[in-house]
Amino acid sequence: MKKGLFITFEGADGCGKTTQLNRLADYLTPAKAIIKTREPGAKGLGEKLREILLNYDGEIAPRCESFLFLADRAQHIEQIVKPAINEGKIVLCDRHTDSTVAYQGYGRGLDLNEINYLNNLATGGLKPDLTIVFDVDIETSMTRVGTEKDRMETAGIEFFNRVRNGYLEIAKQEPERVKVLNAAKSIDEVFSDLLNIIKPLI
Ligand code: TMP
Repeated sequence: MKKGLFITFEGADGCGKTTQLNRLADYLTPAKAIIKTREPGAKGLGEKLREILLNYDGEIAPRCESFLFLADRAQHIEQIVKPAINEGKIVLCDRHTDSTVAYQGYGRGLDLNEINYLNNLATGGLKPDLTIVFDVDIETSMTRVGTEKDRMETAGIEFFNRVRNGYLEIAKQEPERVKVLNAAKSIDEVFSDLLNIIKPLI
């Protein structure tokens, strides 16, 4: 039986989600049992897949890219997320299924039904209790990313606008699970908005 809480942090590169995740983890620890984790590349095999996904300099076809993210997810769910939830922990996860919908679906143009089906296979049907989308215009987020870009970050402004719209579409379709925060605000303001969403849950 599920006892813990599974919260995912989503948004386009440079949206500030990792900063907020770390800050929330610091805020909740040690009163709550927290684990911080991420996709891709939480540990072990995942780290190897992350290295390929972010740094491989040859061609990766969009469907292959999806399968690599999904392989990382399947391992991550079994090895880290499910055990932690079963122990009653709060799992703060930097990216999860919605990244594949936004990036490979809306961004790369793969079929959304196909992605949803594959996501479900990779997770065994486990869904986040809450997902926060950190939304900011792409010009701002790309400025935050800076000039040292990884393989995904070089995809271009049009790609990232599709990713952003994808996230907003997901939030429209699942308003109970997915909350959108205005991540153009200052770090302190975004954190205060984040706490307003999190506090009633914990
Ligand atoms: P990040 O750890 O800096 O968020 O980088 C992970 C990158 O991988 C980011 O560009 C988003 C991308 N990504 C996908 O395209 N699909 C996915 O399913 C996941 C989890 C990440």
